[in-house]
Amino acid sequence: MSRIVVTGGAGRLGRSLVAGLAGAGHELVSLDRAVSDAPELADVEQIAVDLTDTDAAARAIAAARADALIHLAAIAVPFSAPEDVILRTNASMALGVLSAGVAAGIPKIVTASSPTVLGYGAPTGWLPDRFPLDEDTAPRPWNAYALSKLLAEQTIAMLARQTGEATRFAAFRPCYVIAPEEWRGAPTQQGHTVAERLDDPALSAPALFNYVDARDVATFVDTLLVALPEIPNAEVFFVAADDALARRPLAELLPQFVPGSERLAAGLTGTAPAFSNAKARRVLGWRPAHSWRGELGEPVTPSPSPDLARKDVLA
Ligand SMILES: NC(=O)c1ccc[n+]([C@@H]2O[C@H](COP(=O)([O-])OP(=O)(O)OC[C@H]3O[C@@H](n4cnc5c(N)ncnc54)[C@H](O)[C@@H]3O)[C@@H](O)[C@H]2O)c1
Repeated sequence: MSRIVVTGGAGRLGRSLVAGLAGAGHELVSLDRAVSDAPELADVEQIAVDLTDTDAAARAIAAARADALIHLAAIAVPFSAPEDVILRTNASMALGVLSAGVAAGIPKIVTASSPTVLGYGAPTGWLPDRFPLDEDTAPRPWNAYALSKLLAEQTIAMLARQTGEATRFAAFRPCYVIAPEEWRGAPTQQGHTVAERLDDPALSAPALFNYVDARDVATFVDTLLVALPEIPNAEVFFVAADDALARRPLAELLPQFVPGSERLAAGLTGTAPAFSNAKARRVLGWRPAHSWRGELGEPVTPSPSPDLARKDVLA
């Protein structure tokens, strides 16, 4: 059992992460702007703190006396505030919180990044060198939110250069997070239900049909924390479902929304997603347990896929 401090623990992802880690036997402390009455946090120690206040953040993080720090707190939606506010808030909060973790001697420090660092959806066009996208795909952020997330990744790399191996760091890029209540019809982050996102591919296309169940993010973080001392420092991981949030193959859908992607997307047949979770499988032995078809009770129609790991999914 570890004592884990989670920033943004009252948020959409934070609630499921805190509940999942507490369910796995860890002791949790949530640092968020306000104390939440969400049932997932009922038995969790919650501290109300504005984490943009660097001194208050440092005091709260030191007082938590934690074995691990997971930094989620951020302005989490692109263009939900002026660009300069998003960049300043997210980048300086990440620097303040993650540095405070180092100063408090917390041995394991993890930050949430985002797949948006890759830059898809750029108004001037975007094409990757290949699909599926993975941790080797070049980041090309085109808005302040994505840039702030790339800075958070770079901040852990920077801190690792300062501390050597004494502190173990990682960053993870959760795909479009779907919490348990959202499978049951509650609105997702962009305001639509999961069913609406499936019925109208234009709704899921801006995220390239990516998603992950929030409970799978919790098992990912739990697995990552165990592995951190053994894996290279300051690694970045995509945390993605095994399949795409789409009823039709992405080989068909992506070219409709990403001009020029016909040839690149041709291998995304069957249920294959645009984002690979192969690194998390290979390095950590993690795999997601939930899929949209399982949650919505829709049958999986097996079909060939270029990704070897997908054999397991279809089994
Ligand atoms: N939800 C997704 O699909 C998704 C996908 C990729 C990355 N992420 C990242 O995961 C993290 C969590 O996202 P989320 O969807 O749960 O967002 P959210 O907005 O639901 O939660 C963010 C939490 O951070 C807290 N917070 C923000 N500013 C704060 C401050 N100054 N002081 C203290 N607390 C503060 C908020 O009160 C909120 O509870 C974010 O870093 C986000 O960028 C989320």
